[in-house]
Amino acid sequence: SRSINLAVVPGDGIGQEVVAQGLKVLAAVLPQDVKLETKEYDLGAQRWHRTGETLPDAELDSLKSHDAILLGAIGDPSVPSGVLERGLLLKLRFAFDHYVNLRPSKLFPNTATPLAGRPDIDFVVVREGTEGPYTGNGGSLRTGTPAEVATEVSLNTAYGVERVVRDAYERANSRPRKKLTLVHKNNVLVYAGHMWKNIFDRVGQEYPEVTTDYLHVDAATIFFVTQPERFDVIVTDNLFGDILTDLAAAVTGGIGLAASGNINPTGEFPSMFEPVHGSAPDIAGTGKADPTATVLSVALLLRHLGYESEAVRIEDTVAADLAERTPDTVRTTDEIGDALAVRVAS
Ligand code: IPM
Ligand code: MN
Repeated sequence: SRSINLAVVPGDGIGQEVVAQGLKVLAAVLPQDVKLETKEYDLGAQRWHRTGETLPDAELDSLKSHDAILLGAIGDPSVPSGVLERGLLLKLRFAFDHYVNLRPSKLFPNTATPLAGRPDIDFVVVREGTEGPYTGNGGSLRTGTPAEVATEVSLNTAYGVERVVRDAYERANSRPRKKLTLVHKNNVLVYAGHMWKNIFDRVGQEYPEVTTDYLHVDAATIFFVTQPERFDVIVTDNLFGDILTDLAAAVTGGIGLAASGNINPTGEFPSMFEPVHGSAPDIAGTGKADPTATVLSVALLLRHLGYESEAVRIEDTVAADLAERTPDTVRTTDEIGDALAVRVAS
């Protein structure tokens, strides 16, 4: 019989609250014969305060044995900036070689967005997840003095770029519109930018049916707002992808709806699914957090594990739920989770 052995990392702030709803919906959508096992990992700000640890090797090892990881949010104002981000979230992405950071954007019905009423917004950003300026390849000299010098070198390998570009072509090739846009900044970042473009063009020869396009990242931000329907699949560097996907979330319904998957396509390591939003400490514990982004991340998780029809059912459920929301609809995190769980099971 089938089974899912899931690692759960609720993390900080609203992470705990939204993950609880994601698990509710997961349990409700799974067929009877699928055995769901979950193991919760106590990682994040509280753990760091208690023990000084971010992600000990023993836990990293144990996480490796799961089919997938569901993560809430990492980060807390009581912890120095970067400690948990680098020591936990990025460590997981790097250790498990999550080189495809998948972030779909779809204009759901009835959502508060500057683009409401614009049809056909349905694109996915394939953000490189293991390289670029995120590698920690830098340093500072004469730190804290007026003569300080700091570097943060963007690391790009042909191997790393080619594998993510190829993944993006595969995705584009399997979608009806078959369009792939490379976003970079090769008018200024001439070394990495040209390498990305050359690899993009070379791999593209293997995908004659995919229409390609190139945009500088600054121009891309304009089109995200003025003409988002021009995008189908976008492939881009780690940092550009970080920024673009927050913008994409803001224009297509808000950060409360944006889901993501940190994918290791080879299956060597478990992939990790998380809402794009952060820990939102300002609303933690108030019940105001929208768990929809986490629920949609659970859909991505199910799709990754081969439960396509269950993934679609969650997405349809979310669309139906959103269609019924009005500006005066006030529901707690828990109430939204309950409503989605009931609807997805029916
Ligand atoms: C994200 C977040 C992370 C990132 C931070 C918290 C390290 O902003 O998932 O987009 O920059 O990737
Ligand atoms: Mn981000």
